[in-house]
Amino acid sequence: MATVAIVGAGFMGSAMAWPLADNGHSVRLVGTPLDAEIIRQCRAEGAHPRLRRPLPAGVRPCFAEELGEALAGADIVVSGVNSRGVRWLGSALAPHLRPTQLLLAITKGLEVGADGALVILPDVLAAELPASLREPLGMAAVGGPCIAGELAGRRDTRVIFGARDLGVAERLAAACRTPYYRVTTTADLVALEVCAALKNAYAVAVGVASGLLERRGGPDAAGAQLHNAAAAMFGQACAEMRRLLEALGLTAAFAAGLPGAGDLYVTCQGGRTVRLGRLLGLGHPPEEARAALRGETLEGLEIVAVMARALPALAARGRLGAEELPLLRGLIGLIAEGRSADWFLATSLAA
Ligand SMILES: NC(=O)c1ccc[n+]([C@@H]2O[C@H](COP(=O)([O-])OP(=O)(O)OC[C@H]3O[C@@H](n4cnc5c(N)ncnc54)[C@H](O)[C@@H]3O)[C@@H](O)[C@H]2O)c1
Repeated sequence: MATVAIVGAGFMGSAMAWPLADNGHSVRLVGTPLDAEIIRQCRAEGAHPRLRRPLPAGVRPCFAEELGEALAGADIVVSGVNSRGVRWLGSALAPHLRPTQLLLAITKGLEVGADGALVILPDVLAAELPASLREPLGMAAVGGPCIAGELAGRRDTRVIFGARDLGVAERLAAACRTPYYRVTTTADLVALEVCAALKNAYAVAVGVASGLLERRGGPDAAGAQLHNAAAAMFGQACAEMRRLLEALGLTAAFAAGLPGAGDLYVTCQGGRTVRLGRLLGLGHPPEEARAALRGETLEGLEIVAVMARALPALAARGRLGAEELPLLRGLIGLIAEGRSADWFLATSLAA
């Protein structure tokens, strides 16, 4: 059995404690400096305040100040931070990591380089590490449908672990796989990460339909809603993810599989990303919507800003036409350029 240090005690980092503990591993759940209250409550009550469940046996909550101690002797480190915490995590881990450890990242997001090229977050994290660690450290990331509350409830799902070195993905999958947390593997880490990030943008689009419906007075007298528009956006999202993967020379089949359509479906079932879209559909400007959801991880907004910079670079390299990806361009208009939700609906579904 292994010793695992999860760093980041929000929803998803913490939820990973369930399959790991069920597999008999010794788990240290380390909060970031922002998670002190979560860790305090975990210690005081033996339960996670956000997941609203008792922690499984064998999970030791640790404060950020105990990071070095928690990482000593760990075989596996899980990054449980969101996209805003990746650089912090890299620099916090740097003095403690050893080349024999394996790192698994649940973070979803992308960054864009000065040249407009997309950069996956495992590479952002690795850039914070000393050069001597970057090569030997085995790093993988997770894609596919997995809502934290369901994972902690041991509800069934199937996900994909991706690593450039497939052996690393396989070793981490073996450590995490349970009868309810089914894990397959891929060596196309970049495709996995692109889908994981993009679905957060596209789920905002689906959420906009529910806000628009409310703004138009809800279902009509005969019960007609806007499910058709939401579904059209869902279908368009999958087609656009496929096109983008093709343009980047990545595994296009992921768009219709677990990392694309699978993860998008579960994200559209509710939660903060759809709530964000609803507020935009109701007519709130992005900054107002962000303020209303203050304190929540809102990666959909960030990925739209990233893609607003990446699309021109892809077009300049001849990889994408200027009119392609109308739904993503509609989101950029809505979120980055102050266009209205009605404009967004008309533009993104234009035939
Ligand atoms: N919630 C889910 O169901 C789910 C499922 C799969 C993947 N994810 C991904 O997991 C990541 C975390 O999501 P979550 O739902 O646990 O979010 P959360 O808001 O519950 O937790 C966010 C975590 O990131 C840390 N963090 C935030 N800003 C930071 C900063 N500036 N510096 C250092 N640390 C910082 C927080 O302390 C916390 O540990 C996200 O990238 C998300 O896309 C979430």
